[in-house]
Amino acid sequence: MNSTPTHDYSALVQEAITASQHAYIPYSNYPVGAALQSKDGKIYHGCNIENASYPATICAERTALVKAVSEGIRDFSAIAVVTENGGSPCGICRQMLYEFSPNMMVILADLDGKIHHIMPLTDFLPHGFGPSSLNSSKD
Ligand code: THU
Repeated sequence: MNSTPTHDYSALVQEAITASQHAYIPYSNYPVGAALQSKDGKIYHGCNIENASYPATICAERTALVKAVSEGIRDFSAIAVVTENGGSPCGICRQMLYEFSPNMMVILADLDGKIHHIMPLTDFLPHGFGPSSLNSSKD
């Protein structure tokens, strides 16, 4: 997929900013919002949800992903992720997203809506391990 940003992702970024307002972040005070767009045009929102048992925290990207997959949606075209500084998705989120749509576009923006990076997920996780690595299908 071409990594040149030809598409206007500003509306998806705004959806992610709205999602970030629900972040439950008593420990880090670092809100993250995600807006995951399915290939059929629906948007699934996610925020980070922290826990007093710190490792139980779930990131915004995975919140959005599990919402979609649990409703039977497995094909995605893009995800917008917003943080205060345009921060990058963690490795666990990259891996979980890669399972379903390695070619989705990833848009990283800040809470003011400024886009810092637009790249396909395969650029964030080169040589990723996915369903085909096991010679099986996600279906
Ligand atoms: N966080 C995310 O929501 N997504 C990421 O990809 C990176 C980190 C959250 C987890 C935690 O609530 C906070 O950011 C600080 O690590």
